[in-house]
Amino acid sequence: MATSTAALNEKSSLVKDWAKGYESQLTEYNYWIDEIEGTIPPELQGTLFRNGPGSLEVNSQKIGHPFDGDGMICAITFQEGQAHFQNRYVRTEGYLKEQAAGKILYRGFGTQKAGGWLANIFDTNFKNAANTSVIYWGDKLWAMWEGGQPHQLNPETLETIGTDNLNGLLETKQPFSAHPRIIDNRFINFGVKGITPQSLTIFELDEFGNKLEQHSHPLSGFAFLHDMLVTENYYIFVQHPFQVKGLPFLLGFKTIEQCFDFNPEQPTKIILISRHGNHDLEILETDSFFGFHHGNAWEKDGKIYFESICSDSFPQKQQEELDLAAISFDDFPNGELWEFELNLSPKTVVHRKVIERGCEFPSVNPAWVGKEHRYVYMSACNSSAENGPLQAILKLDKETGNQQIWSVAPKGFAGEPIFVPRPHGTQEDDGWLISLVYDAATHHSYVTILDAQDLNQVTAKLHLKHHVPHGFHGNWTSKIFLKSSENAQPS
Ligand SMILES: [Fe+2]
Repeated sequence: MATSTAALNEKSSLVKDWAKGYESQLTEYNYWIDEIEGTIPPELQGTLFRNGPGSLEVNSQKIGHPFDGDGMICAITFQEGQAHFQNRYVRTEGYLKEQAAGKILYRGFGTQKAGGWLANIFDTNFKNAANTSVIYWGDKLWAMWEGGQPHQLNPETLETIGTDNLNGLLETKQPFSAHPRIIDNRFINFGVKGITPQSLTIFELDEFGNKLEQHSHPLSGFAFLHDMLVTENYYIFVQHPFQVKGLPFLLGFKTIEQCFDFNPEQPTKIILISRHGNHDLEILETDSFFGFHHGNAWEKDGKIYFESICSDSFPQKQQEELDLAAISFDDFPNGELWEFELNLSPKTVVHRKVIERGCEFPSVNPAWVGKEHRYVYMSACNSSAENGPLQAILKLDKETGNQQIWSVAPKGFAGEPIFVPRPHGTQEDDGWLISLVYDAATHHSYVTILDAQDLNQVTAKLHLKHHVPHGFHGNWTSKIFLKSSENAQPS
């Protein structure tokens, strides 16, 4: 009994430490990082952009879900062995209006306006939170959110230029997801419009951001598509068995998240759309499962393969009001790495569990997107036995089955690992993994640079002067944007 109480206290303390990492960061910083452990490799030159909710409140009114927090971009510039940090909120229309009003003005995925159902009835106008990812493409920096258009930012100052319709490519209200894939120097993205019925539009852009392909497909049922996969010949989407029982949402009683109904008796559908010809669509059905994030997909010997972070059910928030420090990870299913094998004739789907430890944010060397790869990198739970916050970076060698883990437990929490290839490197794992780590012991964050060939080789830790709230996704570019005199490197 004593052991069980101690274990419960330890779990509770861990969740409180994790929840502290969501504390709002309202200050916008701009400085050269001067506390560096190790050495920044001089050939590591470029900018890592990362997005996530900078705040889960508006003037002390609590937001109902991290998905609804205002996007705050971090830019970490690596230049000649030095590193510069900058963060700035995306000045979306919603951010500006709510800051001026000093209160929540928009409903969100898990957020209601104050004032009960009367204040929320028939309001389906969500705020574009611009909080999910950030990427530099075609000489533009975009803060991305899957329900709307991207916001274009100045890559040097992170100032918001405004929403970007991609030279008229995106109609008003045409969503542009936060999970593009880049293959063979083509930027591929999608957007899902509507609730029921829905249409899926796929875009391919060239290196300058010009349209190469655009085509739309009607979807049957309700599809909650967050991520996509791409191979040489296919776009791949996974449609989980959701229904939206939307009346309580429309009448203002519930958030849209609370109206999501995951039906484990229904199949999960894998949607394959040809990248060529008439863009034919085929659907393969398999047992129900859920997963936000996919790793990579590839074709081999006439079959299609992909891997994804999957769980048997949908991890719905149990609380009426968001209280992250009181969340029990035991109430949520583990996200495991599953690999799928698809056969088109006859139509079959086979999957196997590759990693049963809880994990998230899978990534590969960007040059291997759409191709059979050997290594996968992800954030992972410290414990292999039970679900918990992400406290480690994991490298999987699919050839040997070997898993290497770099843990920052008990007080550290690891964000998405972003693979940065070493210039002129030829081996798949020749590069670095860069991740933002929140350290609850100091309530500060640091940027870690790991050698992707051996995670135990911590190349450098760059200690920030403050914390950065837990975030979502980011991307690397080899470009450097700092130019102005106030950004001159320290001598
Ligand atoms: Fe995501």
